[in-house]
Amino acid sequence: MELKDTLLKRRSIRKFTKESVSKEDINIMLHAAMSGPSAVNKTPWEFYVVTNQDRLALLNKATNFSNIEAPLAIVVCGSKSRMLPLQLADFWIQDCSAASQNILLSVTDLGLGAVWCGIYPQKRAMEKVSKALDLPEKHIPLNIIYIGHPDEDKEARDQYKEKYIHYLD
Ligand SMILES: Cc1cc2nc3c(=O)[nH]c(=O)nc-3n(C[C@H](O)[C@H](O)[C@H](O)COP(=O)(O)O)c2cc1C
Repeated sequence: MELKDTLLKRRSIRKFTKESVSKEDINIMLHAAMSGPSAVNKTPWEFYVVTNQDRLALLNKATNFSNIEAPLAIVVCGSKSRMLPLQLADFWIQDCSAASQNILLSVTDLGLGAVWCGIYPQKRAMEKVSKALDLPEKHIPLNIIYIGHPDEDKEARDQYKEKYIHYLD
């Protein structure tokens, strides 16, 4: 698929078949994730790959908006060990978001579907995810990306709006 088609084809998919996602495809997603840019190339990300039903069930309860039945979840976390100092530390959010978007695009390219469920900065949700995955204190969960074989169709969509663009002399 051409990049411009992948970009428009990527939609949030929230219904999945029970078919599992292959190890090869998961590998491609994780390579895509770590190809993203990061401030000062700190790569402050950690990826938790979840296929265990019990853990997936616990993740489902993290927020009212993250109750999705999927065979796979990748939880993208920021690592305090590789964050920039002081006020630059928050760049981890942008770094891990770039990695997350790369996962979504690679998922689309593979003919699979995914939805990004936001966790950070919701304290209760962060606690629940940390507990479900036994995360060390230094790993901060940014989101849960549910992934699988789509069981719903969504049209490619172009949300381009000229009014959001400001060309300056
Ligand atoms: C930071 C962030 C948090 C999100 N959290 C959720 C969520 O908790 N549950 C959910 O179903 N979708 C979530 N989404 C997906 C958005 O609802 C979705 O991207 C938006 O409605 C646009 O639809 P599209 O992805 O199909 O283009 C989130 C997306 C982002 C970027």
